[in-house]
Amino acid sequence: MTTPKRYLITSALPYANGLKHIGHLAGAYIPADIYVRYLRAQKRDVVYVCGSDEHGTAIPIQAMKEGTTAQAIIDKYHPIIEQNFKDLGISFDIYHRTSSPLHHETAQEFFTVLNNNGDLEIKETEQYFDEATNTFLADRFIKGTCPNCGYDSAYGDQCERCGKSLSPDELINPVSTLSGNKPIKRSTKHWYLPLNKHEDFLREWILKEHKDDWRSTVVGQCKSWIDGGLQPRAVTRDLDWGIQVPVKGADGKVLYVWFDAPIGYISATKQWAVNNDKDWKPYWNDKETKLVHFIGKDNIVFHCIIFPVMLKLHGNVLPTNVPANEFMNLEGDKMSTSRGWSIEMDEYIDDWIKKENGGESMADVLRYYLTQIAPETKDSEFTWKGFQDANNSELVSIFGNFVNRTFVLMHKLCNGKVPVFHNELIDSNDKELIESIKHSSLSVEHLLEEYKFRDALFEVIDLARKGNQYMQKKEPWILAKALAENPDNQKLIDNCLHICLQLTANLTILINPFLPFTAKKLLRLMKVTDKILDWENAGKLKLLSVGYNLRAPELLFRKIEDEEIIFQLEKLKNKSQMQKAESTTPNAESPQPSALSLKPEIVFDDFAKIDLRVGTIVAAEKVEKADKLLKLSVDLGFETRTIVSGIALHFKPEDIVGKQVTVVVNLAPRKMRSIESNGMILMAEDKSGKLHFVNPDTKIDEGSSVS
Ligand code: MF3
Ligand code: ZN
Repeated sequence: MTTPKRYLITSALPYANGLKHIGHLAGAYIPADIYVRYLRAQKRDVVYVCGSDEHGTAIPIQAMKEGTTAQAIIDKYHPIIEQNFKDLGISFDIYHRTSSPLHHETAQEFFTVLNNNGDLEIKETEQYFDEATNTFLADRFIKGTCPNCGYDSAYGDQCERCGKSLSPDELINPVSTLSGNKPIKRSTKHWYLPLNKHEDFLREWILKEHKDDWRSTVVGQCKSWIDGGLQPRAVTRDLDWGIQVPVKGADGKVLYVWFDAPIGYISATKQWAVNNDKDWKPYWNDKETKLVHFIGKDNIVFHCIIFPVMLKLHGNVLPTNVPANEFMNLEGDKMSTSRGWSIEMDEYIDDWIKKENGGESMADVLRYYLTQIAPETKDSEFTWKGFQDANNSELVSIFGNFVNRTFVLMHKLCNGKVPVFHNELIDSNDKELIESIKHSSLSVEHLLEEYKFRDALFEVIDLARKGNQYMQKKEPWILAKALAENPDNQKLIDNCLHICLQLTANLTILINPFLPFTAKKLLRLMKVTDKILDWENAGKLKLLSVGYNLRAPELLFRKIEDEEIIFQLEKLKNKSQMQKAESTTPNAESPQPSALSLKPEIVFDDFAKIDLRVGTIVAAEKVEKADKLLKLSVDLGFETRTIVSGIALHFKPEDIVGKQVTVVVNLAPRKMRSIESNGMILMAEDKSGKLHFVNPDTKIDEGSSVS
């Protein structure tokens, strides 16, 4: 294996349209960070870039949901996401933004080069246009019935129910989500990247050259794209949010987000170079750069097919590898922020890191578990129980326990100093452990070089396990009891703890890429600088000098209690229920009524369980930080109740006071944004998504029953 001259490592640029969840973290960030920290310890020339992806329709759509501007959305989420990554120890050399002028220039220059070289094609096509808003409709702004499954709120690019990729033309009865109107067809001009012309290159490069060193899941996906027939791909859009197409007469047209975003890796490298007085060019132009993209599997086509074609045409280096991860599910279901079935990084940080002193070690616990269950070869699943087990029975009981025993015994039996090693007394157990230390270092190194992060981590923990077994065999505490009769026992104790301490130093080096906060804590305990983390020290046995004074023991990890896990499970359920309640607006993914969405038949007794009463809204106010929720006081005759309802986008509080409503009064109470809701009001939703009250035709007594 020849060592590359330099490395440029990227993690997918997350959309700055909302909080990012731990599935994202596990897919594209933690593995990259482990790899980069390892390369830095190897003293390789490495730059790790990332940043916010701030264009595309995802941003204006979120702006619509939050009732604000696209600019306000990116300015809100960019700094939060950046800080979240920091708190979880993701060590980018730069976290840039695609809204920066430097990026705009870089992307425009890139487009211009391709366009001037004749590498792009221009085509006129008919596209959906909304006359009410005077705009061409991006795929995400068109909804209609899915031709595949009949779902009537499928988007122009994909059906969220059956998952099928669609084009707006395939939708039955398309409507504009901007105005609710039926769009018309209008002709428009766009630039296309003719992927079909590069099929031979892609076949050669991916399916031959990289067929063995890229993950089979990645090669497999590429193969099916290529075999499916590559089509020219539009790289411009009619949209008012994005990077202007740098051509005269192309006003109102922007670069397609998937054209500009990966160029963000280049502009981030440029900004890093400016900040650090370096030259960015060799990282992108010199063949001896090893470029590695860390991504989730939904990004494979963009990083393995489209962007490489762009890079080749522009004269840049191609990625050496694209170790994409599969997906991570959560407690038996797909992770999704919009459905509330997720754990956001921000949420984890609030609950586990900020709440306790020395909470950074909880960042490492998450890094540990996410690496252990990393979906490297197939989808995997996060469970809170698994999280607790990984912490309690591995980090606490194996790794933490070994280090703690070593420090406690060293203080008790060796005066808190690194004891001397008496060579003449070396035995087979010592030799075996010394061998393991050397062997593990090499094998962790090999596994990391091959992007096998979970196996590498397993190897490190296994080495700590061997440390525990060694100590168990040596039993220095028993030797200590018989010191009076056998003064020579001190030498055996010394040997045992000497080796355990050198092993601790080795474990620090090996765990550092995975659990950087823990490594830092260990450096402090051993009173050494981070010089010791140089990978060339891995496998060595004289890292801590004899006679050196070490600090008193401190626990590396704490036990996680059952109550904490139960709390998280409850919270997850509440969050997803609240999200359901909030998403009763036309913009949100609530299915429209149709015969297909009829619920299964029930018997009368099922219906009779529901207690429905007429009530009158006597007060209404907005719920803070929840744009869809209103807090209502509803007079039911026998009492007045607080009910939280997801109708704020439809009604102004002052307009509904005095209205009569039908209320489900025996629904179990539920907390929404920390307000307890005691019941639910019935609403009818019309075709356009507008809500209407379900109430008696004339005002009647509160508390009257409905059946
Ligand atoms: N924002 C995209 C996503 O979340 C990823 C962009 S990666 C880049 O799926 F290469 F385009 F930057
Ligand atoms: Zn469908």
